[in-house]
This record gives sequence, structure tokens and C-alpha cells, in this order.
Amino acid sequence: MILVAGGTGRLGTKVVKLLRQRGLEVRVLTRDRKRAAHLVDLGVEIVEGDVGDPAAVQLAVDGTRSVVSAIHGFAGTKNATPATVDRDGNRNLIGVARKAGVEHVVLVSVQDAAAEHPMSLMRMKYAAEEELKASGLAWTIIRPAAYMELWCELLGRPLLEKGKTQVFGRGRNPINWVSASDVARFVETAIEDPALRGQTIEVGGPENLSVTEFLDVFRSQTTSNGKVGHVPLAGMRVGAIVMKLMDPSMARMIQGAIVMDTRPQSIDASETRRSFPSIPVTSLAEVVRRDFVDSPDAARGARGGP
Ligand SMILES: NC(=O)c1ccc[n+]([C@@H]2O[C@H](COP(=O)([O-])OP(=O)(O)OC[C@H]3O[C@@H](n4cnc5c(N)ncnc54)[C@H](OP(=O)(O)O)[C@@H]3O)[C@@H](O)[C@H]2O)c1
Repeated sequence: MILVAGGTGRLGTKVVKLLRQRGLEVRVLTRDRKRAAHLVDLGVEIVEGDVGDPAAVQLAVDGTRSVVSAIHGFAGTKNATPATVDRDGNRNLIGVARKAGVEHVVLVSVQDAAAEHPMSLMRMKYAAEEELKASGLAWTIIRPAAYMELWCELLGRPLLEKGKTQVFGRGRNPINWVSASDVARFVETAIEDPALRGQTIEVGGPENLSVTEFLDVFRSQTTSNGKVGHVPLAGMRVGAIVMKLMDPSMARMIQGAIVMDTRPQSIDASETRRSFPSIPVTSLAEVVRRDFVDSPDAARGARGGP
């Protein structure tokens, strides 16, 4: 039995499908059983509870040989933050897994996870990585770049549905984008291949594109001619400060957008990707065609698709 915490999410759903296709038994931890409705037909066990609740996590972990953490609290509510979910929730999961004799934990972290990063998400993911490495459990850490599928929803879908979209900042900084489908294949490989234990794998995609170039690809594939507006960086900086007290989740997202627009975000992922020749290197154009042209309803709601 494999536990996928975050199995209801964009990446987690793809991981659950791959593991089930291999005939593996899968359990999903979710705060709300209704969010796992799309998984029920796959024959997945559901445990309802918060990753911060030791009793729920105990129930979820009992009898599993591997645990996947694909959770985050970046865009959460007041009680679901990078500190409570990515650091403390993962700490809870790792502690329970250790006591329960779980064989192996796969932690989905982030590109740029670091103790000194300006974003709390990167700091809290780093804390979780350190916790896992010190736990005595066998581990694999996956550090993905930004998911194409998420940003197609955030930036691209409004072009199709409203005829316009908003870019936060100048949109000229090169950013590495990876398909969540490729990342799911890395998680699957980590579960199945003991050679990946004790490894931190940076999973980037084939392209470093600015947000402007990202939208050019989206528009050319969907033949959309919607308008692209810009929220100025100066306004975003003020917004991040003002929102810190009023809406911390919104403040985090604005800060994330500032980081994406101003800090180096490009990587050369080619060497790592060549080391895993059986995992496809999906391009942005392929993701856009798959989710918005060939089967536009699959991506709606963000969790469908292959
Ligand atoms: N999105 C990106 O661009 C990106 C880039 C790099 C790395 N990552 C990492 O990839 C992983 C998946 O990201 P995603 O974008 O696919 O996520 P997502 O679609 O936003 O889903 C988040 C998941 O986290 C779960 N979760 C959040 N708080 C929880 C809590 N307190 N207790 C239990 N479960 C909780 C949610 O479960 P319920 O709502 O069902 O409870 C949901 O399944 C995360 O670890 C993320 O940090 C994402």
C-alpha cells in the first residue's frame, strides 16, 4: 500500500493514476473526502484528515510501505500555510512514518528550496527536506520547477474564457517550466526504483521561457488573440506589504510573483532528463494542445488529464 498525501491535487492525481496503472494499492489523505470524488473509480482508499492531525496521519500511514508527500500550504487559508503544511505537516508525516516502520518516503519539494530563500514556501520545504534526511527513513526528494499545467490555468485560461489575462510584473524573466505529468513519472520511478533512494532530483522541463513567451506559445497553440495586461512591479511590492496583515495567502502569492519576475528562475535540466530516458520531456506546446485543444474538458478543474 502506498499513501499519497496530496493525492487529490494536480500532481497527486497524476501520481495516483500511474501507481494504480501499475496495479499498486493506493491510499489518499485529504481534508475533504469530496475532493477525492474523481479518484473513487480508480479503486483508491480515502482517509479524511489534516496532515497536521497525528491521529488522522496515523490512520493514513498504518500498513503502508511507501509514503508520497505531494502537499503544500502555499495558497492555503490562515491555518494552511507553508509553515503549518510544508514544514509541520511533513514533520508529522515523517515522524509517524518512521514509527510505523514505513520503508521509503518521497517528498515533493520545490526548485530553489533553501534555508535563506525570501519565500517561506522554499524555506519550509527545505526544513522538510532536512527533517526527512535526518529521520533514518529511506528517502527521495523531488524538486520540480513551475508546473506548466498550473500556469496554463492561471495565465492561459482567462485568455480563452475572458479574452484577456494579467501578467504580474514585466513578464520578461526566463523561467523553467515542467509538466506535472513528467514530475508524476519521476515520483512513480522513485517509488519503484530503489536506485533513487537517498537522491535529491531537480526536475526541470525542456524550456526556459519568460511569461510573455509562455503566453505566446499558449496563444499560438489555441489560436487565441486575447489581450495581455501587466500589473506593475511597484504596485505588486506595495500590495505584498499591505496584504501581509489582511490576507497572508494573497501576500504570499504576490511575493511569489515578484520572485518569479525578478530572481533567476532558469535551469538547464537536460543532463538530469537524459538520465531518465523512459520519462518523456513534455514541451509547453504539447501540454497546451493536450489540455486546451485535444481534450479541453480534461484539464478543467485542474485535476483531470493524463
Ligand atoms: N504547482 C507548482 O508549480 C509546483 C512547483 C514545484 C513544486 N510543487 C509541489 O508539488 C506538489 C503538488 O503541487 P500541486 O500544485 O499539484 O498541488 P495542488 O493541486 O494545489 O494540491 C495541493 C494538495 O495538498 C493537499 N493539502 C494541502 N493542505 C493539506 C493539509 N493541511 N492536510 C492534508 N492535505 C493537504 C491538498 O489536499 P486536500 O485539499 O484534498 O485536503 C491537495 O491534494 C506540492 O508539494 C508542491 O509544493 C508545485
